[in-house]
Amino acid sequence: MRIYILGAGSIGSLFGALLARAENDVTLIGREEQVSAVKENGLHVFGVEEFTAYPEASVYAPEEPPELLILATKSYSTRTALECARSCIGPETWILSIQNGLGNEELALKVTPNVMGGITTNGAMLVEWGRVKWTGKGVTVIGKYPTGRDSFVEKVAEVFRSAGLETSVTEHVIGWKWAKAIVNSVINGLGTALEVKNGVLKDVPELEGISVDIAREGCIVAQQLGVEFEIHPLELLWDTIERTRENYNSTLQDIWRGKRTEVDYIHGKIVEYARSVGLEAPRNELLWALIRAKENLNKPGR
Ligand SMILES: NC(=O)c1ccc[n+]([C@@H]2O[C@H](COP(=O)([O-])OP(=O)(O)OC[C@H]3O[C@@H](n4cnc5c(N)ncnc54)[C@H](OP(=O)(O)O)[C@@H]3O)[C@@H](O)[C@H]2O)c1
Repeated sequence: MRIYILGAGSIGSLFGALLARAENDVTLIGREEQVSAVKENGLHVFGVEEFTAYPEASVYAPEEPPELLILATKSYSTRTALECARSCIGPETWILSIQNGLGNEELALKVTPNVMGGITTNGAMLVEWGRVKWTGKGVTVIGKYPTGRDSFVEKVAEVFRSAGLETSVTEHVIGWKWAKAIVNSVINGLGTALEVKNGVLKDVPELEGISVDIAREGCIVAQQLGVEFEIHPLELLWDTIERTRENYNSTLQDIWRGKRTEVDYIHGKIVEYARSVGLEAPRNELLWALIRAKENLNKPGR
């Protein structure tokens, strides 16, 4: 399958390497340093598995349309990235977002009706240009966005499985995107505000109660929007905390590195959707403001 990865950072490089190793025609679209490193020495994966793959790499989207374009930028880069790749998106091209946060698929739907949503619990970290650590093996769920089925989704799932990515197909992917966003609203929100490892949120009784309240707030908004869950967000929350109890969440790590976070696309979107159905989401609003304040306090020069 001809696949372009838009955003050759941590997770995009991992997916790109696995798909290229399985003899798909993969092009990574990324930043200059990553493109040069991959062109010179290939893309080295280590951690869960160790191998080197040799995908194509480019700073610009090639002209020829791919069958599949995987969106793997941070959510705050999606709009610009899609504009940059606009010319390569043909009538048969499907876009799949494997990003966290809400609203990415809606941006993709402005470009084409062929949109898939996805969530992945695989963990990846680009430790240096051309070298990505596969930090944890997880599962990937994909589906036609917002709901429904299509034979191409099944085809992509098969391609992913052949590449070593455990993948299932759902007819309610919007529910999975919301469930993951709700989980992130708790783990990344509370875990960042308190600067604690994920496991602490379950181990300290007061925090367990607050976690449930934050998650319930997101669930009520989703239900008002008519979103159906195949997995209850609380079940996904406790499972995720158990699997990652020794980790600091990615938002906190971004704050520590002085980087922008995806908070506008997690808490910010939950608040925005709540307002759209006449609800309030005060816990998410508070966490959103706290994390934005932390981002600003961490800016270089302060
Ligand atoms: N890493 C994980 O383990 C993991 C797991 C599950 C889900 N996710 C989600 O996946 C998404 C990506 O996360 P990540 O950790 O892989 O982020 P990341 O390491 O920052 O990778 C994103 C890459 O895309 C690049 N980029 C942005 N705009 C671009 C454009 N127009 N053209 C080419 N490249 C562009 C970024 O460059 P700049 O930094 O220069 O902008 C960066 O190198 C997020 O939504 C995240 O929440 C990540």
